[in-house]
Amino acid sequence: MKPVLTSKTFGFTPKGDKIYLFTLSLPGQIEVSVMNYGATWTLLIIPDRSGIMEDVVLGFDTLEGYLQKDYQENYCYIGSTVGRIAGRITDNRFHLEEKTYELPANLNGIHLHGGIEGWDRKVWNSEPFGTDNSVGVTFYYHSIDGEENYPGAIDIWVTYTLDESGRIEISYKAISDQKTIINPTNHAYFNLTGDFTKSIEGHGFFVDAEKYLPMNKHSLPTGEIAGVSGTPFDFRHLKTISEPIHRNHPQLDIAGGIDHCFVLNQPEECAVLYDPESGRKLILSTTEPGLQVYTGNHFGNNFKGKNGVTYGKRSAICLETQHFPDSCNQPGFPSILLMPEEIFQSRTQFVFTAE
Ligand code: BGC
Repeated sequence: MKPVLTSKTFGFTPKGDKIYLFTLSLPGQIEVSVMNYGATWTLLIIPDRSGIMEDVVLGFDTLEGYLQKDYQENYCYIGSTVGRIAGRITDNRFHLEEKTYELPANLNGIHLHGGIEGWDRKVWNSEPFGTDNSVGVTFYYHSIDGEENYPGAIDIWVTYTLDESGRIEISYKAISDQKTIINPTNHAYFNLTGDFTKSIEGHGFFVDAEKYLPMNKHSLPTGEIAGVSGTPFDFRHLKTISEPIHRNHPQLDIAGGIDHCFVLNQPEECAVLYDPESGRKLILSTTEPGLQVYTGNHFGNNFKGKNGVTYGKRSAICLETQHFPDSCNQPGFPSILLMPEEIFQSRTQFVFTAE
């Protein structure tokens, strides 16, 4: 079957920018919606094992939902493209070419996910496309030199593609006019039950990672790359999340659950999320070396999402493919430098089954 692309106006920002909602679908099999506000993934409808189609990503029914104050102030990044740098940065600063760059704090005194007005809050240009066996949208944004105090002007393209097999790909391409740093990700929150009042603790989770990054009390990497063996972070076999997440472990106390980066062993099918009730399964592949896993620990029941449902703690899980957090301050981590003559590229694929 050939995938289909449709688009409609989703609304207008307070500044008057038109926001489009694009829907990529294989009728009866999968439906994916994305919008150019924050290059955001807003909807994913997939069948359970008996064919019941349900939406399995958090979001809002309207653009106003994404723009509401209570949501914006919470910095939850539901479905957003996160940039320039995913995660937190030690002391809100980094050094490059003998210069120190001080970054603005946006959440509890810490610079998180690109800052006060990161890429999740920008209006992107949209270019829908279709080929013989796929449809998609490329979102483009020009980030000016000095945006959120980062050096260099960056041109960034984020492409969502749905192919005829039902596979979704998010790919990134970026260039800069100066030496800078970059580490974008997507921040979709999944709950494969299709019922956002339910916890994701009943989901099975697998991640092909021997190692993870322990955090300090500010949820910043200590710099250590630790083994998962004997810790609650050992998901080398599919395991129900509820079991390890309630163990006594200082790393779980820091984050109020899992909010840690796993060091991926290899790119193909490196993580699996499975809901035994519905049979829905997500299989993830990525070119990135890390997977930040966040179990919705800080959702505080302070805004309503789709269908008026209040998103509570553990109502969804985020699987953020990226380089390691705070890489700009951690010499032992893979580099996130982007040179003017280079092209940054990254790809993540999502395959869904029901069994
Ligand atoms: C981070 C969390 C943060 C959440 C929402 C996640 O990617 O790892 O620490 O609370 O995003 O902003």
